[in-house]
Amino acid sequence: MTEPTTTASARLRAEFTARLGAESQSEWLTAFADVRREHYVPSFYRQDAQNQWEEVSAGDPGYLEAVYSDAALTTQLNKHGIPTSSSSEPRLMLAMLDALDAKPGHRLYELGLGTGYNAALASSRLGSENVVSVDVDPDLVHLARSRLARGQYHPLVFAGDGEQGYPDRAPYDRIISTAGLHHIPPALLSQARKGTVVVAPIGFGIARAVVSDDGEATGRFLPVPAFFMPRRTLTKAPDFATLETRTGLPTTVSATDVLDRLKFPLSLALPGYNSCTWQNEAGEVTGIGLWTGDGSTATVHASGKARQLGPQRLWDTVEELAATFPEETPAREDFGLTITPERQHAWYRNPEGPSWSLPPG
Ligand SMILES: C[S@@+](CC[C@H](N)C(=O)[O-])C[C@H]1O[C@@H](n2cnc3c(N)ncnc32)[C@H](O)[C@@H]1O
Repeated sequence: MTEPTTTASARLRAEFTARLGAESQSEWLTAFADVRREHYVPSFYRQDAQNQWEEVSAGDPGYLEAVYSDAALTTQLNKHGIPTSSSSEPRLMLAMLDALDAKPGHRLYELGLGTGYNAALASSRLGSENVVSVDVDPDLVHLARSRLARGQYHPLVFAGDGEQGYPDRAPYDRIISTAGLHHIPPALLSQARKGTVVVAPIGFGIARAVVSDDGEATGRFLPVPAFFMPRRTLTKAPDFATLETRTGLPTTVSATDVLDRLKFPLSLALPGYNSCTWQNEAGEVTGIGLWTGDGSTATVHASGKARQLGPQRLWDTVEELAATFPEETPAREDFGLTITPERQHAWYRNPEGPSWSLPPG
């Protein structure tokens, strides 16, 4: 790396850390100041005005500025052009690391190694010997391992299904997932101890739960919104064509409610649901489609007609949520999570309030 780039990197990193520090006195700021994000994101993909992906690499105009911005950077696309790995927004990473309440020497397990940037931050603060991180993609693990070594970090990283944990280093004091989950994997809970803090994206939020001595855990969601790449699984494509042959039923729930006010609770009630919108030439939303991995689909159109098809009645769930939250947008931090060996459920305001079972698998 040339000297001017190194100087620019140091200046941009110092400014970036100062911006992160303007809102928080986090103990993680030293790690953000020390770890060079460009080592972990030597290139990324961004969409141009025609939504075509273009690769931006070190030396390209704007590359370093993007690396030291608060942007999530897409680092891997599959053959369909769908992002499969990214470096998350640094502000969100900081919020999750803060929520862990980790101290130097704590043993940390991460599901979702990705670029290795978060594992580098964790190694910088907790010590490499205390960090274990896994990714399902062996190519990513290979790259992350060499990038971490370049930064003098040597956490244990490996390829596998992160939901299984790594019992040889258990019990973990802290557990973080940087891939979206539908529930907290039971194998990870069995590798925790009393007082272990678990921070994980569930739906469009981040859950923080503390494990109690009987293997149960409870906690609340952070106030920050979050969209994380889902843990990789196969899902069926939506069958909107057959759906359109069904009679539409009148509904008073608007498409904008689904996209906005009900978005977070819907992500708890229908874990892993997908959505798409139809727009007119003026760019106004004229309809919304929902689907889940089991082939269930629903649409609502601006006309106020909803249709649904498949094993789950998706629109019925939307209507139930609209009745539970008739006007207000519920705050994420009013939602919580309770985990027992038998069941995991998310709830609103208290564990006896409205609740949604999280799927076991
Ligand atoms: C948002 S990225 C993680 C970002 C990463 N922590 C970083 O600092 O760059 C999510 C990662 O989770 C990985 N992932 C998805 N499903 C997984 C699974 N079942 N086990 C382990 N990793 C998984 C993806 O391959 C992807 O790299």
